[in-house]
Parts: sequence; structure tokens; C-alpha cells
Amino acid sequence: MKIDILTIFPDMFAGPFAESILRRAQDKKLVKIKIHNLRRWAKDRHKTVDDRPFGGGPGMVMRVDIIDKALTALGSGHKILLTPQGKTFNQQAVASLSRKKHLILVAGHYEGFDERVRNLVDEEISIGDYILTGGELAAMVVVDAVVRLIPGVVGEKESVKEESFSRALGGLEYPHYTRPADYKGKKVPEVLLSGDHTAISKWRAEQAKKRTKQRRPDLLR
Ligand SMILES: C[S@@+](CC[C@H](N)C(=O)[O-])C[C@H]1O[C@@H](n2cnc3c(N)ncnc32)[C@H](O)[C@@H]1O
Repeated sequence: MKIDILTIFPDMFAGPFAESILRRAQDKKLVKIKIHNLRRWAKDRHKTVDDRPFGGGPGMVMRVDIIDKALTALGSGHKILLTPQGKTFNQQAVASLSRKKHLILVAGHYEGFDERVRNLVDEEISIGDYILTGGELAAMVVVDAVVRLIPGVVGEKESVKEESFSRALGGLEYPHYTRPADYKGKKVPEVLLSGDHTAISKWRAEQAKKRTKQRRPDLLR
């Protein structure tokens, strides 16, 4: 998969994309991530990408002509605008994006985008009902979630399938335990120490269902 990101703060991406699973995925050539400074497509010598809103009001608005030029230069990928007004991101959207060959993400700033930018993209994504200072963190969230579903990125295939929101019922995952088996009197459930894999599977399925019912009943509906 190829991922292009348009931003006015390219340096923000250095840390998260250079560590752990995202780094390994790039090293293994399972994904190629490129960060582009939107100012490259600006027309004036100050490299301006925003302007005052028509009709007045606070803040600056990102210009449609500059974003259009940048998107045209990046080719025919699936174009995503990061905006709090987009569809709320979830694991279903992650799975669908992980099947695309080329994603182009556009991170906004200031008051947001000129309304006509919406005509240039395939979809608009929000990562939740709150306002960030810019779309960079949202783009990182999208890339992180999508890349780990690309086959070969996460070691054991099963660990992706069994996770919360990906399970057959779409619910939460069962609880995990590791050593010590007894920590300050809190014991690991007997069944997990039994070696009986059928019983363990049954217990995990029950726990996942119970947990989803308690914490996220909306997922069961
Ligand atoms: C300060 S916000 C602009 C918010 C805009 N004035 C509004 O009320 O919709 C600046 C940029 O941050 C990004 N952003 C902020 N919150 C976001 C969210 N929840 N999901 C995705 N992107 C977000 C978008 O790219 C947005 O253009």
C-alpha cells in the first residue's frame, strides 16, 4: 500500500512513523508512507496556504486551489479529508481502507477548509467528537489503525481477528492475564491454567459477550 499525507507540519510525523510496527511495516515494504508539505504548492514567496474567510469571522481558511493542485500532483488514490465534520472512524472503516492500494490524507489547520475542498475528496473522516488543533494527529490515528490490518504487518493473524470490534459479533475482546498467576491475592481464572483449549475458548467467548454487554451494549444492537 502507498500512503501520501498532505500537511503543513511534516515534522510532526517523524516519531510515530519511525517506531514499532509502523516502522517494521515500512522496512518490510508492506507500506510506503510519504509526507508532503502542502506549502510546496503555494504560489507566493511566503508559501501561504490559507486566507481570510469571505463574509468575515475569526481565523483563516485553507485554500481550495492549493489543495487541488497538490491532490492532482499526487495522482488517483483514495482521497480522505480529516475533519471533525466527517464520518466517525471505526474498525469497519479501518478494514475497508486497509484493502485500498493508495490512500491520500489531507490534514487541515486553522478554521478548516474552504467548503469546495469537499468536492475534491472521496470521503471525510472524523476520529471523534472533539476538536484537535490540526489534522495531523487524526491522520496518524488513521494510518496506524489501517497499516496494522495489512496482511503480514502484525505477526499472528489471529491476534488481529480476535480483537475488540473485529470479532465475529463486533464486540469487545475477552480479558487477558499473564504471570504472576497470583498477584496480591488476585488470582488468574482457573480455566486459563487448565490447558483445556475447548474450555478456554468457551470461557473467552462468554467473557467477551459479558464484557460487551456491560461496557458497550450499543455494539450488540
Ligand atoms: C481547529 S480544527 C477546525 C475545526 C472547524 N472549525 C470546525 O468547527 O469544524 C483544524 C483541523 O483539525 C483537524 N481536526 C480537528 N478535529 C478533528 C477530528 N475530530 N477528526 C479529524 N480531524 C480533526 C481537521 O483537519 C481540521 O480542519
